[in-house]
Parts: sequence; structure tokens; C-alpha cells
Amino acid sequence: MTDVSVIGLGAMGTALAEAFLAKGLKVTVWNRTSGKAGALTAKGAVEAGTVQQAIAASKLVVACLLVYDTVYEAFEPAKTALADRTLVNLTNGTPAQARAMAEWTAKQGADYLDGGIMAVPPMIGQPEALILYSGSQQAFTAHEKALAALGTAQYLGSDAGLAPLHDIALLTAMYGLFSGVTHAFALTGSEKVPAETFLPMLTGWLGAVMTWLPDMARRIDSGDYRSDVVSNLEMQAAAFDNFITASEEQEVSPELIAPMFQLMKKAVAAGYGDADQASLVEMIRRPPEPQKEQATG
Ligand SMILES: NC(=O)c1ccc[n+]([C@@H]2O[C@H](COP(=O)([O-])OP(=O)(O)OC[C@H]3O[C@@H](n4cnc5c(N)ncnc54)[C@H](OP(=O)(O)O)[C@@H]3O)[C@@H](O)[C@H]2O)c1
Repeated sequence: MTDVSVIGLGAMGTALAEAFLAKGLKVTVWNRTSGKAGALTAKGAVEAGTVQQAIAASKLVVACLLVYDTVYEAFEPAKTALADRTLVNLTNGTPAQARAMAEWTAKQGADYLDGGIMAVPPMIGQPEALILYSGSQQAFTAHEKALAALGTAQYLGSDAGLAPLHDIALLTAMYGLFSGVTHAFALTGSEKVPAETFLPMLTGWLGAVMTWLPDMARRIDSGDYRSDVVSNLEMQAAAFDNFITASEEQEVSPELIAPMFQLMKKAVAAGYGDADQASLVEMIRRPPEPQKEQATG
């Protein structure tokens, strides 16, 4: 028996296996395409010939494949080996996929933890690598020490969907930032300002913007969008019109920023013109469920 089996030796799976080895754990590895385990076996890992053998080798089985369909494809033929194992699935997926996989794993008699890796492979094994987990509390407690080899482990709750929910929320925030930053570089670049010259101004500005997030969070939690508003949406939408026009004049496509403008105009039309920017969340989130009628006797 080994301490942990790693299924999938792509860029991330290889980094995970290396981190386990670096902390002195005995590791079994498996990959669909052979020939990727050489560097790991040189460091002491055991290469399994089949997924079944890899699952049989360790109580803790960590999967890191491309998408959930590929996890089923790899595990379905070997599912009988999963009984009495803990499957930790670090493959990127949706909350619904994670919940379905938790149910599928339970049918095989195994414990399930879903995970979201908030890091790139070179960060794995460092405290900066945040890894989110959700699913079986018992499994997390039992394997927390081994999982700490991969980075900082944060358990979010027994609903397996919570780790991918937070993972995707953080990633969408990142891509939103990339959208604005890409547009900003294109705009300044349209007048031949080198990106590296613009960079210090950009990072300073983004740092200032970050300090507004606590107020935004407070407003979203309380629903208070109208007290002490210093930049109302009607004013912002009027200015945003200039952002679109300026981009077009500079021959920069506004496609990355246009959706925000559309949403602002929709919010103003819906009566949020005097409200804070935070109120935009009301335009995109699921409406609250209607109160159920009280049953009358
Ligand atoms: N790399 C990152 O920066 C990063 C960061 C956070 C999260 N992630 C997540 O980590 C997961 C793995 O990413 P990666 O960077 O390691 O990807 P990758 O380098 O492309 O590796 C993909 C892995 O999936 C395997 N695979 C694909 N289809 C398969 C199938 N049908 N059956 C069995 N194995 C299959 C591949 O095996 P073969 O070698 O046989 O093709 C390979 O081991 C993804 O869900 C990704 O979103 C990655």
C-alpha cells in the first residue's frame, strides 16, 4: 500500500504528485497515456498499470483530469475498487457536476471530496497555493494532513458543490479583471504608450479600487444601495457612453466592456439610477423565491 494515488499526470497532476513525494508520502501514479511518470518514479513514485491498480494501492485517491466526463471515463471501468476509499477530485467542474459525482461515489461505497485549485502548477506545495475542498467532513479530517502537502487547504462545508462554486466565483472575478486590464492596455497602446510604461499607474489605480470592495460587500449583504451614494449609476452610465465612444474613436473594439454598459443602462431603466454600483448584482442574480402561502385550516 502507498499513502496516496494520483490519477492524471498532466501539468497539474504531476505537480500534485511531486508535492506529495516532497513531503515524504508514498505515492502511486497513473496516467492514460504512458511515458509521463518517469520523473516521478525517479523520485520514488510507483506507476500503476491500470486505474484499478492505482485505486487499490491507496486509501486516498486524488484525481486531476481535464473535465468531469474524463473522470467518469477513467473511473467507471474501475469503480468496484473504490469501496472504502476516499476520492478527492481536483478536476475543474461545476457545482452540479460535483454534487452528481458525490452521489456516484457514494454508490461505490467511497467518501468524496471535491476540490478547487486556486494556483498554477509551480505554486503547488507552497502556502500560497489555496486549495478549496467541500464534501465529506470525515474525509477531510482524515486526510487533512496529507492534503496539506499541496498547499493551504480550506474546507468549505459538506455540500460538494461549494468548492467549485467558490473556485468559479474567484476565477470569474479574475477574468473580469483581465477583461478591463486588456482593454486598458489596448486603449493606451492605441497611442503607442508601452504597456510597461502604463503599468505602474494601472496597478496603483487597481489597488485603490480594491479598497472599495468592503463597502460593496456590505451593501450587497444589507440591500442598502441608496445611502451615502457618491457615484450613482446614472452618472456612471453617462460616463460609460464616453468609454465606448473613445474606444471606437481609438479603433479599439469595445467588446470586452460593452456588456457592463448594457447592464448599467438596464439598471438605470429599472429604477437604480440613484443607486450605488453594488446594486448591479440585483440585475443578474436569481430572484428571491416567493414566500409560500401559509396553509389555512
Ligand atoms: N494547469 C493549471 O494551471 C490549472 C490550475 C488550476 C486547476 N487546473 C485544473 O486541473 C485539471 C488538470 O489540468 P492540467 O493543467 O493538468 O491539464 P493537462 O496538462 O491538459 O492534463 C490533462 C490530464 O487529463 C488526462 N485526460 C484527459 N482526458 C482523459 C480521459 N478521457 N481519460 C483519462 N485521462 C484523461 C490527460 O491524460 P493524457 O496525458 O493521457 O492526455 C492528462 O493527464 C483541469 O481540470 C484544470 O482545469 C489546472
